[in-house]
Amino acid sequence: MNSPKIKDALGSSNGKTGRKNIYDQTRLLLTKNIGENTTAAPNAEENNEMVVTPWEVKGKVDYERLIREFGTQPITPQLLERLEKHTDKLHLQLDRRIFFSHRDLDTVLDLYDQGVRFVLYTGRGPSGPVHIGHLVPWIFTLHIQQKFNTRLYFQLTDDEKFLVDDDANLKETSKYAYENALDLIALGFKPEDTFIIYDTRDIDLLYDITLEVAKRITYSTTRSSFGFQDSTNIGWVFWPAIQAAPCFIHKKLTGENVPALIPAAIDQDPYWRVTRDIAPKLGYYKPAQIHCRFLPGLGIGGKMSASMPETSIFTTDPPDIVKKKIWNAFTGGKGTAAEQRKTGADPTVCSIFQYYFYLFEEDNTKLAERERRCRAGELLCGECKKDLAERLNKFLEQHQERREKAKDVIDQYHIKR
Ligand code: TYM
Repeated sequence: MNSPKIKDALGSSNGKTGRKNIYDQTRLLLTKNIGENTTAAPNAEENNEMVVTPWEVKGKVDYERLIREFGTQPITPQLLERLEKHTDKLHLQLDRRIFFSHRDLDTVLDLYDQGVRFVLYTGRGPSGPVHIGHLVPWIFTLHIQQKFNTRLYFQLTDDEKFLVDDDANLKETSKYAYENALDLIALGFKPEDTFIIYDTRDIDLLYDITLEVAKRITYSTTRSSFGFQDSTNIGWVFWPAIQAAPCFIHKKLTGENVPALIPAAIDQDPYWRVTRDIAPKLGYYKPAQIHCRFLPGLGIGGKMSASMPETSIFTTDPPDIVKKKIWNAFTGGKGTAAEQRKTGADPTVCSIFQYYFYLFEEDNTKLAERERRCRAGELLCGECKKDLAERLNKFLEQHQERREKAKDVIDQYHIKR
């Protein structure tokens, strides 16, 4: 059972606002994972056990447990009301509780109401092409940037990917940093307010801050936060200080000391735990976070991950590959069409339904109707897949065009010395 606190935070119809939305109707899709009681340690790897680290997400993700064990806060109906006031209409990813947890978002809003602005900070580890799961927090970041008229710092960690992957080389991770930046720009971020940091190229901007941070974090803290072992290379052990640095770069560049708000999936949270501990010692605000869930892959469970290309949709995939991947996706369908028409299918386990839920059906009524027809056996998996492939390919066609155009303007996003 969910605790009352979590139930309320997830927008149960008993919540204070009495908010009725698609989440109430399709709550099972998310609460199925959220409510389960498990007693094993978070790092246990057996029996489909949950592992959530910045470098690995495995097993069935229990988001309620992550809130408890990471020590974050659930996003409450009260917080949603505050966000709605500032943004006119609640963003779909909040309305559906895809963004479900935070640290100090309330403090950032308190400060904003008192006239203290904030900056946004997020990033990408360029280990390969961008997949549509990465777009989830970036689309939300763009929304917050537009509504609050605020600056974004975007870090491309070609150094991180080089250090953590034995087979990676710097030339390749730097090449992907450029490729991944095109995806960010294609989403519509404007150069006036968007500053892209390429770690290996811009390290001069980060290095003094990184040193201040690194000096104040002990090995024992990083070992317990990140699970480092005796065999971990020392570059990797030092590296978290580099991901911390952009939280504080705004002051260095402008002289203005304001908090950073970081939208990202919850796998990145360990970085912010160590950074928040030392921020006040350096005279900065603690960086705030807003965490999203993982868009699943097209297989059975697990997040979409570049290391599993057959179950991931990359932004550069051509239409026939997209169709093929969708066609092979795991669904909640039955063995035969006749059986499915009779007993219906189960959208709660279906990877295809999640894509509509996260990105490809913005209309709550239409989403609810899709779910109803699926459960009633009126909508078969073939039709649902065909429809999704068409939507995805339409989105990708436009994205790929904008991505090409981004090549002409990418220099405008570099930080000028
Ligand atoms: P990376 O490249 O692993 O992921 C980039 C961003 O995408 C999120 N993400 C997902 N979100 C939803 N569904 C998924 N399936 C999914 N997979 C990944 C990640 O949480 C992340 O927000 N070390 C970082 C790069 C980085 C960064 C940052 C990220 C540097 N500074 C600040 C966030 C905020 C990394 O390797 O991200």
